[in-house]
Formats: sequence, C-alpha cells, structure tokens
Amino acid sequence: MKSVLIIGGSGLVGSSLIRLASNNMNVFFTFCKNRYEASTSKSFFLDLLDKQNSAANLIKSLSPDVVVNTAAFQNVDYCELNHNMADQLHVKSTKEICSAVKFLITNKSITGQVIAIDSGQNLNWKTPDIIGTKE
Ligand SMILES: NC(=O)c1ccc[n+]([C@@H]2O[C@H](COP(=O)([O-])OP(=O)(O)OC[C@H]3O[C@@H](n4cnc5c(N)ncnc54)[C@H](OP(=O)(O)O)[C@@H]3O)[C@@H](O)[C@H]2O)c1
Repeated sequence: MKSVLIIGGSGLVGSSLIRLASNNMNVFFTFCKNRYEASTSKSFFLDLLDKQNSAANLIKSLSPDVVVNTAAFQNVDYCELNHNMADQLHVKSTKEICSAVKFLITNKSITGQVIAIDSGQNLNWKTPDIIGTKE
C-alpha cells in the first residue's frame, strides 16, 4: 500500500485529505498547536518554525511515497505583521520539505524506518540505510 505524509493534517484541508487518502493509502500526518487524532492514521507533532530541521527528519524517517504540505498561516494581516515567521513557514520550510523529498527520490535504496520515536517529538531518523548516504 502506498503511503502519504500530510503536513498540516490538523487543518481544514489536511483533515479532509486524511479522510480521503485513508481509503486506500497508509496515512501519516502532522499537527502543531491543535492535536488531532484520526483512527486510521498515525500522527506526529511538527512545528515548522522550530528550525530543528524536523520536517526533513520526519520525511526521511517515514520515507512516504507522497508528501502533501498544507501547513500555513491563514491570516494575511498576521503574515504582514510577522513577516519573518511567515517567510519561515511558507518559504523556508517549503524549501526544506522539497529538499528532503528530493533526497528520497535520489536515494531510492532508502526504505525508511521509524525508530526511536517518542510521542512524535524526538526523531532518530538515521536508519541503517540512511547512515553513510551523502546529502
Ligand atoms: N480552506 C480552504 O478553503 C482553502 C482553499 C484553497 C487553498 N487553501 C490553502 O490551503 C492551505 C491550508 O489551508 P487550511 O484551510 O487547511 O488552513 P488551516 O485550517 O488554518 O490549517 C493550517 C495547518 O497548518 C498547520 N500549521 C500552522 N503553523 C504551523 C507550524 N508552525 N508548524 C507546522 N504546522 C503548522 C496547522 O497546525 P495546527 O492547527 O495543529 O497548529 C494546520 O494543520 C493554505 O495555504 C490555504 O491558503 C485553503
């Protein structure tokens, strides 16, 4: 079964995607401030503003077939007033996510294994087939 990681699964678009994808995919999703549970899926806490490269770590750990990023600040006025945070969430994090996906595409031997996950917060993503692979 193919797998999908939905970043921003606790949001309006993300939660709808979880329901749709759960019919025929193995679904992983993330939440940030609003913990969200879906009986058919596995959830992970992810704060794209934490600058710990955690989105890349999660993507590499799960090695999903598909990644969908719906994480966003919806309030345009808030983005205007908090330009750096908006830039981090909408631009820098998106680049980080794309870079992690590219890493998986160019390293097809990586199967991904979720190891040492502590409530979705502490990810030890260095699985045996990733160790030694150059980024
Ligand atoms: N809703 C629509 O009708 C619609 C239509 C077309 C396009 N869009 C676009 O689709 C995207 C998502 O829209 P939406 O309506 O689903 O928004 P939403 O309900 O506000 O959801 C936003 C998602 O982003 C997550 N998020 C926010 N800050 C985060 C952070 N620092 N780190 C990680 N995740 C974070 C939220 O997680 P938490 O809630 O857990 O904090 C939530 O899951 C936006 O770009 C929007 O413009 C929406």
